[in-house]
Amino acid sequence: TETNTWSNRFETALNPMIATFNASIPFDIILLPYDIQGSIAHAKMLAKTGIISEEEATQLVQGLQEILTEYENGEFHPDINEEDVHFAVEHRLTAKIGEVGKKLHTARSRNDQVGTDLRLYLQDKITHLRANLRHYQQALLNLAENHIDTLIPGYTHLQRAQPISLAHHLLAYWEMAQRDWERLGDVAKRTNISPLGCGALAGTTFPIDRDYTANELGFNDIYRNSLDAVSDRDFVIEFLNAASLIMVHLSRFSEEIIFWSSQEFNFVTLKDSCATGSSIMPQKKNPDVPELIRGKTGRICGHLQGMLMVMKGLPLAYNKDLQEDKEGLFDSVKTTESCLEAMTILLTEGLEFRKQRLEEAVAEDFSNATDVADYLANKGVPFREAYNLVGEVVKTSLAAGKLLKDLTLEEWQAIHPQFENDIYEAITPKQVVSARNSYGGTGFKEVRNAIEIAKTLTT
Ligand code: ARG
Repeated sequence: TETNTWSNRFETALNPMIATFNASIPFDIILLPYDIQGSIAHAKMLAKTGIISEEEATQLVQGLQEILTEYENGEFHPDINEEDVHFAVEHRLTAKIGEVGKKLHTARSRNDQVGTDLRLYLQDKITHLRANLRHYQQALLNLAENHIDTLIPGYTHLQRAQPISLAHHLLAYWEMAQRDWERLGDVAKRTNISPLGCGALAGTTFPIDRDYTANELGFNDIYRNSLDAVSDRDFVIEFLNAASLIMVHLSRFSEEIIFWSSQEFNFVTLKDSCATGSSIMPQKKNPDVPELIRGKTGRICGHLQGMLMVMKGLPLAYNKDLQEDKEGLFDSVKTTESCLEAMTILLTEGLEFRKQRLEEAVAEDFSNATDVADYLANKGVPFREAYNLVGEVVKTSLAAGKLLKDLTLEEWQAIHPQFENDIYEAITPKQVVSARNSYGGTGFKEVRNAIEIAKTLTT
């Protein structure tokens, strides 16, 4: 019959549970626009090489375009027995245009077809994700420009280390996003290769033109080996790796925003438009957005691991295991996109840095101790000796409940005769930050420079 999927080799229908188990249509339907695109290119190629007539190709292309319109209008609802998007389209085509529809699958297999669809889909999504990354980077840059002079404690081991410009801190995340943007570009290079025309596994007996379809579909190159072409999912794994890294970067930032907004830190206030409350504790304001981003990171890293495991024992060439590439990939695309969007909104309108509190924070500790040692080293005292002297000072000051800025000039000179009145200016948080103008450092001049470089790299 018209709708019998399999060849006449089969006598009885699939067990309904097995049909559902086998089907990918519930999730691969989102590949439909790419499947149509691929089929149109294939149909044109069949005519160009004389495998079918021009008239037949015209009918195929027109029918395929109509199916796309049906899908876009929400009028295409294939049932589970269609198994997958490829069969669903082919059957619909034949139902629409009749016998000629049955010529579409000449010189093609679902194996090269699904690989083509998936690559076209991912190519498209990578373009979107890179745009999302750019928006996120722009939000970071805007915030950084407003906070060059805002100081924040810099940490190592989550212990106060040296004060830094808040802009410098934000620009570190900009750099990670820049690498992510470049990494997606690299993934795109290896996604953008056409497997179409490799058939089920071994190529085809028809005089096809693979360069023509590749060109039509915007691929930069074609696979050299048909077995490799239909069984390669490296590009999926590479993408999941890139997505995992994007998420890991967002997750690290989220973690900081979460503790910055805690009462213990109190560096940042979450605006009402991006925070949530508690159903029982009326005073609560919770950082759900960064918490969700941090949480979703686990899922995406899981998809990466999952796909590596799907591939690890696969013999050549196509195996149905490969159908398992889709759900994790689709979820990763959707989730990474939405996390980048949410973080961009959070940075744009959801955060307020508490300048007063930050100013107090950088003045209330010993994070200027390195600068005291540097002060002496500049006067010729060997750094290690200066370092040990200042260690003593920190110990006695801590015991006396004093900060370095509270020491009298006599106390300083008792430590070392080279200390002079300018020690007070040298250890103010502002001076401490300002002095670190080595390339890539937090000095204000350097940070301004970094912002300019970032701007040129993103336009
Ligand atoms: N739904 C299948 C997949 O997602 C399409 C390819 C099926 N090919 C086959 N020989 N069973 O991988």
